[in-house]
Amino acid sequence: MSNDSGTSRQDWIAQPGQPLRGSVRVPGDKSVSHRAIMLAALAEGSTRISGFLEGEDTRATARVFEQLGVRIETPSASERIVHGVGLHGLRAGSGALDCGNAGTGMRLLAGVLAGQAFDSLLVGDASLSKRPMRRVIDPLAKMGAVIASEEGGLPPLRIQGGAPLQGIDYTLPVASAQVKSALLLAGLYAQGDTVVREPHPTRDYTERMLAAFGWPIEFSPGFARLQGGHRLQAADVAVPADFSSAAFFLVAASIIPGSELRLEAVGMNPRRTGLLTALRRMGADIREENASEQGGEPVADLVVRHAQLHGIEVGGDLAPDMIDEFPALFVAAACAQGNTTIRDAAELRVKESDRIATMAQGLRSLGIEVEEHPDGATIVPGPIGPGEVDSHGDHRIAMSFAVAAQRASGQVRILDVANVATSFPGFDALATGSGIWLVQSR
Ligand code: S3P
Repeated sequence: MSNDSGTSRQDWIAQPGQPLRGSVRVPGDKSVSHRAIMLAALAEGSTRISGFLEGEDTRATARVFEQLGVRIETPSASERIVHGVGLHGLRAGSGALDCGNAGTGMRLLAGVLAGQAFDSLLVGDASLSKRPMRRVIDPLAKMGAVIASEEGGLPPLRIQGGAPLQGIDYTLPVASAQVKSALLLAGLYAQGDTVVREPHPTRDYTERMLAAFGWPIEFSPGFARLQGGHRLQAADVAVPADFSSAAFFLVAASIIPGSELRLEAVGMNPRRTGLLTALRRMGADIREENASEQGGEPVADLVVRHAQLHGIEVGGDLAPDMIDEFPALFVAAACAQGNTTIRDAAELRVKESDRIATMAQGLRSLGIEVEEHPDGATIVPGPIGPGEVDSHGDHRIAMSFAVAAQRASGQVRILDVANVATSFPGFDALATGSGIWLVQSR
């Protein structure tokens, strides 16, 4: 059987295991890995990327650049050497450029490809083919790009080459690092200034990495400005461990009595660590140790111990800082004392699945009461029962229910989990190694 991605269908069976113990190092950051490939490809000289995420999403991005004429070596797992071709060195690839499951890949590539002299066709899997692209098409068109989509602004995207781009001053209607990044990347090829303003600050990896590659850029939370016509110089990138992957373990150790787990050298960019703030407000016991810097990014060990959580209200500026961590927060909320209400998170409806609906449906089938709101949900905690939940091919939903099952009164079958490999290859081995009970059922 196939799932939304066309990969072979896999399910998990999960049930309570042991308290989480020991030390875990999660794989490299997905957002940083995508950007490292892209900027290294457009730079002059060779870039060594260490800590690269060997996930399907980031590998798809690397394959796209190989198709566009960039030589990329893999000296060892999680390492890449990218032989940059310079800003104008990409060549038309033969056939469609396949972004797989990756919204980040497709949206950022739309910005890069809008500035090329050749035509491109960007495609994705069934899930990506349902995700909104107007948010990048419309502002890129304002810059002069010519991009055709399917009806409703859906992929595939047909990008016409050779259109001269002009910088714009654009205020994003929704906080989105992907849209901001697409515009900044197109801005490299534009005449004049490109300015992006955000309603809430989002992750700033594109800005930081452009600066590290020598491109003059001015930025502060919620604001970025650059000018076309400069050059990118190769600069080695050390990718920190992905906070979004660590998030499942933070919640698991918090809700499983007797747990004490160390997560090593996790990326602590403040635009990513909103879940830490939320969990601490819920009463979680999480210590930061060995704080240092890796490749210009703050990293720290996180030592998490079981604690009784209590319900909170989450929204406002915190929402973009934890946008990928809401599925895990739903699970923490289901195990807390008192209700949790999530607001200002309507973006969850257009992720790899409608994460509000998918989490609500899954938790309900395990006996937890959830009231959906257009921009969030209220979770009423209670005992978690056995049952079956459908992840809808969404990696973060699958991992969240593997965690929820550790507090269930019986077995939980989690359907359609193959896409976990898009962001967290080896999750099951790391999880079972630390105490989580999880098996593949086919
Ligand atoms: C990402 C930005 C976020 C996030 C996604 C990765 C990025 O999306 O959900 O997983 O790397 O820029 P939006 O910017 O669309 O909110």
